[in-house]
Amino acid sequence: MRMYDLIMKKRNGKALSKEEIDYMVSGYTKGEIPDYQMSAMMMAIYFVGMNEEETLFLTMAMAESGDMLDLSSISGIKVDKHSTGGVGDKTSLALAPMVAACGVKIAKMSGRGLGHTGGTIDKLESFKGFSTEISIQQFLKNVDEIGIAIMGQTKELAPADKKLYALRDVTATVDNMSLIASSIMSKKLAAGADAIVLDVKTGSGAFMKRQEDAYALAKEMVRIGQNAGRNTVAVISDMDQPLGNAVGNALEVKEAIDTLQGKGAEDFTRLCYTLGSYMLVMGGKAENEEQGRKMLKKVIADGSALNKLAQFVKAQGGEESMVYHPELLPKASLIEPIYAPRDGWVDKLVCDEVGICSLILGGGRETKESVIDLSVGIELKKKIGNYVKKGEVLAYLHANDRAKLAAAKERLFHAYQIGGEERKTNSIIIDVVKQV
Ligand code: URA
Repeated sequence: MRMYDLIMKKRNGKALSKEEIDYMVSGYTKGEIPDYQMSAMMMAIYFVGMNEEETLFLTMAMAESGDMLDLSSISGIKVDKHSTGGVGDKTSLALAPMVAACGVKIAKMSGRGLGHTGGTIDKLESFKGFSTEISIQQFLKNVDEIGIAIMGQTKELAPADKKLYALRDVTATVDNMSLIASSIMSKKLAAGADAIVLDVKTGSGAFMKRQEDAYALAKEMVRIGQNAGRNTVAVISDMDQPLGNAVGNALEVKEAIDTLQGKGAEDFTRLCYTLGSYMLVMGGKAENEEQGRKMLKKVIADGSALNKLAQFVKAQGGEESMVYHPELLPKASLIEPIYAPRDGWVDKLVCDEVGICSLILGGGRETKESVIDLSVGIELKKKIGNYVKKGEVLAYLHANDRAKLAAAKERLFHAYQIGGEERKTNSIIIDVVKQV
């Protein structure tokens, strides 16, 4: 087989076979196929597309390019959750303990944040001593005994995707639906869960800005999951403004704790209930979503979801007292408000801008090597659809550096648009894709 012939075949509009895709992925991972040939192939796929079968073959080849995590030593159905990412997305921090408290085991690999969206691992490190650098044996033991463990994505997980994603990033070939879906799903399949719940975000702060693209991605990923024999559901959720009220690592942890105590923001709580109810159904603990929702409400009301978070934090070396006393979490030295310049309705809150303000304050990573400040961020007091009076507080900035505070303050002020007309907010849950 020659890579040249495969590029020509795809360029001429033909479908590649499983053997051809396996050859290409394994050759590229081993360094036998050069970047320039793979770039040409990615561009050919970008223009010609891939059919359902090819997309599955590519996903499986990338998933199998490294270690496939074996979770079979853990009893029960293991359910994973993945979000396509957004601003203020602290969902895993509240959702994992809620679901685990209901008896579904969560074995999760997460990442760090890069750019203006945060990563679960960084957020968890707000708990003093918490580490995701645990061995696979410890990871499996914690999942079995406590019901949750979260570890950093190992280098051996889907290495083909890692290499290919970096190549796509610099060759303008990221935004192809089959390539995105196979990239995300290859990592999920390699992580070993039996069932997968996907949170596909859409809106100004999401990867998929347009709803039709979010639907297309959701369908493609559900199809891959089902074809690979994993029960997969995708919830399409709104990311036209930040999720919940907190943006920034420790601030988001605090909001997740509030949510586990039943006093979380409404949009965030609803999203957790929706994703969680599907996880309980797919994990075999609830007969339907309604029953799942009731179970989730119960573990919040009786404190067992919060206790589960404390158990999980302790098992990974973190200070569990911070779960019960969130005032012990890292705190910024400067807290400053921004005020509404006029009376009116908040009709826009540019999501990416809020994320960038958190980044400016030091809460995000500009490069992989940046050290982040866990205490800084933004606390939103008004969101889209709220009425404000001139001089009312729109948001608080939490900072440790005056110059950064001034820059972020100016930017956050302009992220808000206040108009004269009442504006309805989008529902946080847009749709659910179960079957394709
Ligand atoms: N996220 C991924 O993991 N892969 C893509 O291709 C795009 C987003």
